[in-house]
Amino acid sequence: MKKLLSLFLALCIALGLSAQGMWLPSLLEKQNEKDMKSLGLKLSADDIYSPAKPSVKDAICWFHGGCTGEMISPEGLLLTNYHCGVDQIQTHSTLEHNYLEDGFWAKNRGEEIPCPGLWVQFIMRMEDVTIVALQGVTDGMSETDRQSQIDKNIAMLRSTVKKEKWEEVEVRPFYNGNQYFLFVVQLFPDVRFVGAPPGSIGKFGADTDNWVWPRHTGDFSMFRVYADKDNHPATYSKDNLPYRPGHFLPISLEGAEEGDFSMVYGFPGRTDEYLTEAGVRQTAEVLDPAKVAIRDRSLKIIDGFMRKDPAVKIAYSARYASISNSWKKWFGEMQGLKTYKALDKKREYEAEFTRRIQQNPEWSTRWKNLLPRLRQSYQDIEPYVLARDYYSETCLRNNEILTTAANLGTWIDSYDEKNKALFTSKIENVKAGMEAFFKDYHPEVDMAALAAMLEMFAENTKPEWGANDVKVMAEEAGGYPALSKKIITNSTIANRDKFIALLTTKSPPEIVETLKKDPAYALWARLQGYYTAQVQPKLQEIQPKINLLQRQYMAAQMEVFKEKKFFPDANSTLRLTYGKIRGFSPRDALQYEYQTDLDGVMEKYIPGDYEFDVPQKLIELWKAKDYGQYATTDGRLPVACIGTNHTTGGNSGSPALDANGNLVGLNFDRVWEGTMSDLNYDPAICRNIMVDTRYILFIVDKFAGAGYLLNEMKLVKGKKKRHK
Ligand code: ARG
Ligand code: GLU
Repeated sequence: MKKLLSLFLALCIALGLSAQGMWLPSLLEKQNEKDMKSLGLKLSADDIYSPAKPSVKDAICWFHGGCTGEMISPEGLLLTNYHCGVDQIQTHSTLEHNYLEDGFWAKNRGEEIPCPGLWVQFIMRMEDVTIVALQGVTDGMSETDRQSQIDKNIAMLRSTVKKEKWEEVEVRPFYNGNQYFLFVVQLFPDVRFVGAPPGSIGKFGADTDNWVWPRHTGDFSMFRVYADKDNHPATYSKDNLPYRPGHFLPISLEGAEEGDFSMVYGFPGRTDEYLTEAGVRQTAEVLDPAKVAIRDRSLKIIDGFMRKDPAVKIAYSARYASISNSWKKWFGEMQGLKTYKALDKKREYEAEFTRRIQQNPEWSTRWKNLLPRLRQSYQDIEPYVLARDYYSETCLRNNEILTTAANLGTWIDSYDEKNKALFTSKIENVKAGMEAFFKDYHPEVDMAALAAMLEMFAENTKPEWGANDVKVMAEEAGGYPALSKKIITNSTIANRDKFIALLTTKSPPEIVETLKKDPAYALWARLQGYYTAQVQPKLQEIQPKINLLQRQYMAAQMEVFKEKKFFPDANSTLRLTYGKIRGFSPRDALQYEYQTDLDGVMEKYIPGDYEFDVPQKLIELWKAKDYGQYATTDGRLPVACIGTNHTTGGNSGSPALDANGNLVGLNFDRVWEGTMSDLNYDPAICRNIMVDTRYILFIVDKFAGAGYLLNEMKLVKGKKKRHK
């Protein structure tokens, strides 16, 4: 068995199956072009990324630091996901104009809605600056000295690099700090909301369908980027003009079919593909299960209240969605790592690594202790990372009152008897923030959540880290529910009228004194005190050791497995991933097709349902089969498709392109069975999910009647092929 696995591994490496990855656009020619062409790519590496001439990269932007967006017209029209734009959609919604419910489409440029605070960033060029960034760095240096030397080098790079006045420079580590790249970027702060479908299309299937295939969500929204008269970044002004990008994506009406070449261009956030078995085990067997158990409890509580009270349902839907999104991903991740034997694969890989270094005396001296030391360090850090997750999940993320106390904490701490100006200047902000909090706050929900969270904290962390204090408090109060009730009913932070009265009628010293004595604030401060005194120092001591060892292990892998191509882990920089449009078989006898269509939306339709309602107009279009030019030759309307592109969080809104660089889809999710891909990408199981551009155009044109937007796009009509 062991031999077979090694053989398989060697074969995979030899066949370049390891080519799955998130590749650096500037290195495509060297690393991937041949492979991509063999899979069907018609463009050259230079068409996809070029620092000198217009290329596909000029159409891609980082959307507000968490998602990706792309230019789909020469006039700055931007496409991204519904769930990436939802904050803006929500912000601009009122009772009379409920865009969340009804959707919104600006009928002309004048109706586009400015979005203060929203920004996008384009990459002008990227350069390998490893040699300069690591100048003066030596092997024996402490991690702190190393970092300060690197910081100095980076500062020097920033000040000397050639750039325009309106450009900015960023330098980022890759391969765990073995390489550095510099990016010259342009950041545009004037981005306006153009339109989005109603939530019943944009988040159709909501949390039930999230991370799941087959999928039927029309997860898209549109914005427009504005620039000054010279086409440079500028803060909002009514005189700004639509941005003219170096490139915009033509949109294919032909769609994507099983086996077609596919690539996704965007800003993946974070992956950990090169961890050791010990690292993966910690995530799979310790951290994920703990976080899942905590959120399981909190989600059940919130859901119970949401089902009983429609007002709670509205107030808690965004909160529920965001807690549930990571919960579901971690759940899928830990299951997938187990089902698809990630630890066995890591073990085999490490055995091969060890075998190879044993055959080379120089490698052996340098690296023979690496894996044992990493194993030891993971063991050393385990109680503390678990404590960190418990602290942040139970004390902060999954109840509202302690989180709010923590947020107020920074403000309260800024109080200075001799200089009250800073504190006073923030009062109006705090008031506004707290009004927003109270708008959706239901103390009865939070009481139940806090009781459960305090119990989980007390039962699962060490007595000397605050667990004992919480237990004693609960005993004194007569149980966790009673303790939670006592805290929340007596807390000013949980009571709008009391809180606003405090801020409007009392002096700064009185405000500070009252809040410091507040039972919620006091509890948070106590737990946080334990955390910073006992957990954090240990993390700060052990984590740098792991970082150092992991950096050495990364370098060692790249040298020992010379035949293998390594992509750097995702770090929110621009990457290209590629593969094929493909269905998959998650387990015996079960085969998933690569594409869904509108009939499937109607199969899932539950009238009036919170997650699966369908707008009347869409039902009518479906009944009439009125799909126009967006239909396949056999009369269907495709909605979503899947492919073998290696994506992660941050790739939301990334364009899915065909072999000619035409837009065929909009990335928005991954399949449940493959959520482990951040740690263990498996081409047989892992799939990214994209909305079909034909569905997007159909919704804009036929459903919303905003077809005038199509006038500025470039639609590519090809010979239609049969689907399914
Ligand atoms: N799972 C996707 C992502 O990680 C979509 C999340 C938004 N949808 C939701 N139902 N919460 O961001
Ligand atoms: N929905 C994710 C995002 O917002 C993308 C899905 C994934 O994690 O792959 O970035």
